[in-house]
Formats: sequence, structure tokens, C-alpha cells
Amino acid sequence: MYILGLSALEHDSAAALVTDQGIVAAIEESKLTRTPGKGGVPYQAIQFCLDRAGIKAKDVEKLAVASCPLPTWVRHAALQSRRYDRHASGALPPGLDDLIDELRRLPPEATDQGPAGPMGRTDPTAPTGRALPLEHHLCHGASAFFASPFDRAAILTLDEHGHSCCGTAALGEGTNIRPLRSTAFPNSIGWLYSQVTALLGFEPHLEEHKTQWLSLEGDGADGLKALFDDVLGRPCGGLPQIDLSYLRPEFTGRGAFAARFYQRLGSESERSFRLTDALARQIAASFHQACARVLVECVEQLFEETGVRNVCLAGGLFINALLVAAIEKAVGLGSVFAQPAAGNAGSAFGSAWLAWHQVLGRPRFRPLSSLDWGPSFATEDIKNVLDNCKARYRWFDTEAQRVEATTEALAQADIVAWHQGATEFGPRALGHRSILASPWAPYIKENLNHYVKHREPFRPFAIAVPEEDCARYFECSRLVRFMASLGWVRPDARVLLKDLALPGDQIRLYAVERGTNPLLWQLLKEWGKRSPAPFLINTSFNLFGEPLVVTPRDAVRSFFCSGIDAMLIDGFFVSKS
Ligand SMILES: [Fe+2]
Repeated sequence: MYILGLSALEHDSAAALVTDQGIVAAIEESKLTRTPGKGGVPYQAIQFCLDRAGIKAKDVEKLAVASCPLPTWVRHAALQSRRYDRHASGALPPGLDDLIDELRRLPPEATDQGPAGPMGRTDPTAPTGRALPLEHHLCHGASAFFASPFDRAAILTLDEHGHSCCGTAALGEGTNIRPLRSTAFPNSIGWLYSQVTALLGFEPHLEEHKTQWLSLEGDGADGLKALFDDVLGRPCGGLPQIDLSYLRPEFTGRGAFAARFYQRLGSESERSFRLTDALARQIAASFHQACARVLVECVEQLFEETGVRNVCLAGGLFINALLVAAIEKAVGLGSVFAQPAAGNAGSAFGSAWLAWHQVLGRPRFRPLSSLDWGPSFATEDIKNVLDNCKARYRWFDTEAQRVEATTEALAQADIVAWHQGATEFGPRALGHRSILASPWAPYIKENLNHYVKHREPFRPFAIAVPEEDCARYFECSRLVRFMASLGWVRPDARVLLKDLALPGDQIRLYAVERGTNPLLWQLLKEWGKRSPAPFLINTSFNLFGEPLVVTPRDAVRSFFCSGIDAMLIDGFFVSKS
């Protein structure tokens, strides 16, 4: 059986294909179209999933869509399929339009659910066709719970708004997710996060990660902490309860905050408000601390209500590894599972799993172990691209040679791009589309920022470490396999990482498992023989705010448009010297 899951809200659309073997293909549309945050119908992602499995759209037995309002999506899909030749790029694969038609024929109540309405067609007793519209937050919840190692867990989903619903508390048991309650816009901590991002001068919906990391630059001034504690209030029933008197939800950006908010900041009004760098740092820190407090309280309330001491987290807010780490630290490492592609894209496989487990009652798969579900490329195809670009390269037959060449380059303080195997799903580089460097190379942070990443100095780099070596140097949970949380540097290891550790001895950490990424694991082990520790800086292989590179041509373009010194792509070692 094949179930195709789609995320198709207005941003971050994606497709995922589930079979008896689990997820066999998944990719975000943005990575294929090279457009950050791409929304709408994920045409190219759908085609990739079908091609990867070697099937046609007619072979898809269920189409699970994590998206409301579906009528808009269906209209768009129908329009596209009429406008384009069926085989042209941008059209639905032949046969999938039948499923879209089926969605269109569903009664409005099945496709237009508000937060207080029925929780999607997830009731196994409800009549189901091939096309399943599923409630957005239940799909977020399914993406976390069914990926987790827990048989029973509280579930908390929070995002800006998925068709006006901004969060859901639920209980997961076996193959069933039972919603407890939801909260509606504008009571949205995700939306508030975007407005604070805009207040700080960043791009809302794209640069929330900057607010996240800027928060580590401040210590949270007393007055500001009190303000954000008041704005965020006390949660109820495991969900945040924002004091809306501080907000004007009909507006966005700086205009979203009411005069009362600016007065607490010491300004008469929005117009007289002046943001300095120091104030921005303190606002980010105070807001982050208030968010962390509220989320910990939400989780504690759910633990109390359900009697379960495990929690699964998803929804765009939980892409924020700093908040996940704060929850883990408060309620216990090992009792939290944050789905690593927590935003809307992840609801593509959430919807497929919800259909597979809850609608069809099929047994659970093994817990999530890797996210390498995207496109991979044949050696011959990679060679053709390199030759076409007149790139200079050496070919290495064996893994040992590839590791040796890369280690040698890293020892020369080179910055090395690493393009291996299938593209990882989600926003983070997990050793398939990474940039690697020695943490002990002189001025390495400055070089990475100046010559490659072109980003703010306050944004931290992650360290890749063989998983079995993590405990020696760090305190951490298994979430660092996916970079979904942070680690804490042990006192003995501080001297090794003094330029990369964050306040409170926190560190961005990527634990590399031998079974799921053997080549990178070998590289770290080999590197550890000639270095103070088996650590490498691991950052995403992308430039200028683009999504992670996917194809060899994406990789070559990024390689030659940046100060990356060398690249290992399959067995081809490309260098500029
Ligand atoms: Fe969402």
C-alpha cells in the first residue's frame, strides 16, 4: 500500500510517501524549486516521491492532506492541472487529479474545519475515500508521536496558525491520537514570536531563528522580563494563554503591539519607539525566557492531566532548539521528543502516518532514526555535472581514500563541503548536505561567516561528534541525533570548545550514528586521531538564505560562489587549488 502525504498550506509545502517499509521518499518543495518557504501544491515533491518508488499516481491508495482550508488548495490544484499539459513541469502527475477531484467533492464540513470543529476525518469509524483531508495540528502531532520512541505520550503542537488553530494538546496511545483541546488565533504564541521577530528588525516567517539566537546575547532586563511574563501569561489546560490586551492582532510587525506594550517599553507610542542593538538583545532574551517558562508550564500541566511523563512536540515553534532544550532541561532529558522537521513541511509525513496508523489502524513503525529521504544521484550523473562545469577533481574509489583526502584538507584548515547520499528532510544539515571545518582552525568562525555563510556573528555553529563519544564530552539526549535540541558541555570539555559553546555551557550538537551515516562517522573517528577530540564544525550546505543544496549542480554553484575550499561529492574530491 502507498500513502502519499502532503503539506500544502500557504508555506513550506512538501510530499512524503509511506509504504510497509515506512517513509520511502520525502522532500520539501522549496528544496527542489530553490525557493525558501515555497507553498501551494508541491508538484515537484509529489513527482519525486512517485519516481523514487517507481510508481504512478494511480498506485497511490490514499492521499492524506495536512491542510485546511482545502477548498482553496483544491481550486488551485484544479486550475494548475487545466492550465498545463499534464506532463509539463508544474502539473499534477497523471492520475493524481482523480484524487484531487475526490477532495473537491467532499462536503464543506469535511474540508473547512475550524479549531472548535471536528478534528478531521481521523475517526476510524468515519467513511473514508481515497482522499483524506486531515486536521493540520493533528498531522503535526502525528509527525511527532509516531516518530517518537514512546507508546504513550502527551502531545503539544504550536504554530502561528494552521487555518486559525494555533495549538493542540493531545494524548497519544499506541496508534491513536486523542485531541484534548485546541486554541484559536489570535491566542498564538507562534504568531507572537513572528511579531517580536519583526519588532527586532528581522523578517517575520523567515528569520525567527535570528530572534532565537539573539536571545543568547542578552540577560533579560528585569522590566522586560516582567513585561513578557505579563504578555505571555499563565497557560491553561496545557496551552498558552496570551494577554491580548498587549496586541492588535489585525496588524503585523511593530503595528501588532498595542500602545500599552510600548508604554511598558518606556515609549509613548509605536511612533516614538527606538530600537537600539542593546535593547534588541534584551527584548530577545526576555521574550525567550518568558516563552521557555510558559512552555515548561504547558508540559507540566499536560503531565499532570494525562498522568504521562513523556511529551512529543511539533509545529513551527518547536523548530526552536533553544526552547526544546529549555523544556528538556526542566522536565528531564529523555522524556521529550521534538520532531526535527517540526514546521509545516513535516506535516506531510505526519498526515501520511495519521492515515496509516489511526485511520487504517496499521501498526507503528520503528522510531525515527534518520531523515535521508530525498533525492540522491548516480556517480555518472555527478561526473557529467562536474565535467560540464570544467571542475578539477580527483576520484577516490574507496571510503578510506575519501576520508583520508577530507581529513587532510581539514588539517590544512580548509572549509569542506560534504555532499553524500540522499538529501536530508528538514531545515538542518545532518551529514548529507553539510559544510565541515576544524573547530581549531584559526579564525574559523570568522572565515565561515565572511567567506561562506554571510551571516550575523551571534548565530552559533554546531559540532558533529560520533554518537558514542557524546557522553564523554556532553550532557545530552538522543534529540541531538537530529539537532532538534542542544547539548551541555561537561566541565572537562570546556577548554576544547571555548569559542563554540553558548552561555550556560550549551552547545549546538549533532550526534553522528555509525549505522545511519557511516562515512561521516568514519571521518570523525579518523579526524579524532589527529585532533584534540573527534569534533568537526557542521553547518548547512547552502548560501544566501537558500534551502539546503540538493542536486550536484546546486552543490557546484554554491561551491564556486563561496569561499568553500574543497568538496567531497560522492567519490569526487573537488578543490580550488
Ligand atoms: Fe503548522
